[in-house]
Amino acid sequence: MSNETVQAVRGMNDILPEEARLWLWFEEVVRDWLASYGYRNIRMPLVEPTALFKRAIGEVTDIVEKEMYSFEDSLNGDHLTLRPEGTASCVRAVLQHNLLYNAPQRLYYSGPMFRHERPQKGRYRQFHQVGVESLGFAGPDMDAEQILMCARLWKKLGLSDVTLQLNTLGDADARHRHRAKLIAHFEQYQDLLDEEAKRRLHSNPLRILDSKNPAMQELIEAAPKLMNELGDDALAHFSALQDMLKRHGVAFEINPRLVRGLDYYNRTVFEWVTTRLGAQGTICAGGRYDGLIEQIGGKPAPAMGFAMGVERLLVLMHEAGMKPPGYDVDVYVVHQGELASTLASQVAERLRDGNLRAILHCGGGSFKSQMKRADSSGALVSVVIGDDEAQANEVSVKPMRGGNQMRVSVQDMLATINTFIKQE
Ligand code: HAM
Repeated sequence: MSNETVQAVRGMNDILPEEARLWLWFEEVVRDWLASYGYRNIRMPLVEPTALFKRAIGEVTDIVEKEMYSFEDSLNGDHLTLRPEGTASCVRAVLQHNLLYNAPQRLYYSGPMFRHERPQKGRYRQFHQVGVESLGFAGPDMDAEQILMCARLWKKLGLSDVTLQLNTLGDADARHRHRAKLIAHFEQYQDLLDEEAKRRLHSNPLRILDSKNPAMQELIEAAPKLMNELGDDALAHFSALQDMLKRHGVAFEINPRLVRGLDYYNRTVFEWVTTRLGAQGTICAGGRYDGLIEQIGGKPAPAMGFAMGVERLLVLMHEAGMKPPGYDVDVYVVHQGELASTLASQVAERLRDGNLRAILHCGGGSFKSQMKRADSSGALVSVVIGDDEAQANEVSVKPMRGGNQMRVSVQDMLATINTFIKQE
């Protein structure tokens, strides 16, 4: 390898310690929030058989057609893919381990997902999701639960300017009827279709509705509406959901053009969007996928879920001025001389016994340079040990943000430090 420094893969970010503080805090808030609704954590591998995503997400979707990191395992020839999303893996795991055997499941996962997209602000090739999946629930009460959950989280995270878009895709039969009508409509105007639309005309005409091509907007506007095909059950489901949301004071906008980029959805679909992130304004998205479990080999069971983009949420939190509370370290231990160093490492362990977060200075140096490190560590207190202190089995405790230094016995150290910390 040459001397050039190695860079991270394009679109895959390092999260440096300063930023990671916000991540940790976010993860804590999210964990408590999920627990407060009775959701349990599930952890799936980052790599799955490629066939799983093809089957679940759909062969004619952007993700499967051009965004998956797929490769052949050179050791055994298996076709594998870095997961582009979590729903397929989660359902696979639930079926493989028979979790739906006697009770429905409320589950969540979090972690990196991989999509080979063109990187830009808010869009990365490795990004992070928190995903929530409820399996075995058919009624609109679950749709409402998940949407209310989201609304509560936005409040906890201090986010405003987030709006809810809602749509229903109906059930399979309505979608088949609609699909046939769409194909007929677009076939009539073949010469107005762009290349992508032509390609999708017979494989996934619904996705044509998602096109941003200005030249096709009129044609899309005039296309047959799924709403007109919906069956009574799906309509009743959708209207019950709307009633529940209204009762809870959750505002929403019905967007008939919301179709989602993954094939497994039916009935309710939703997206939470913000205008603050430019083109990448969807911070959270999901919906029902009542057919997926059967489609990947399980006994038919309804399901519903959503996933949020962590990077996008964190940008919003930054903008809203949200800062993780607290600081990283309580005490920085400074020491010089052989005897002092021995005592210092014992003292540091004692501090941790007392549930304090302590950094033991490593690498020597003058007191002055060590105190500089103590300062930049953000510690509230430093403990200073010279040979003089060490001989007396004492330490000097120095509050870093003003206040007098005190010399105390090692015995009394914890109590003294705790008084300083409480005052902060
Ligand atoms: P999705 O809409 O593909 O749905 O992704 C969900 C969220 O992940 C998006 O709204 C966005 O915030 C974030 N996201 C997606 N791609 C990127 C990217 N390249 N960079 C940054 N953030 C991104 C799903 O993945 C479904 N599995 C959601 C679901 C769960 N449906 C049912 N259950």
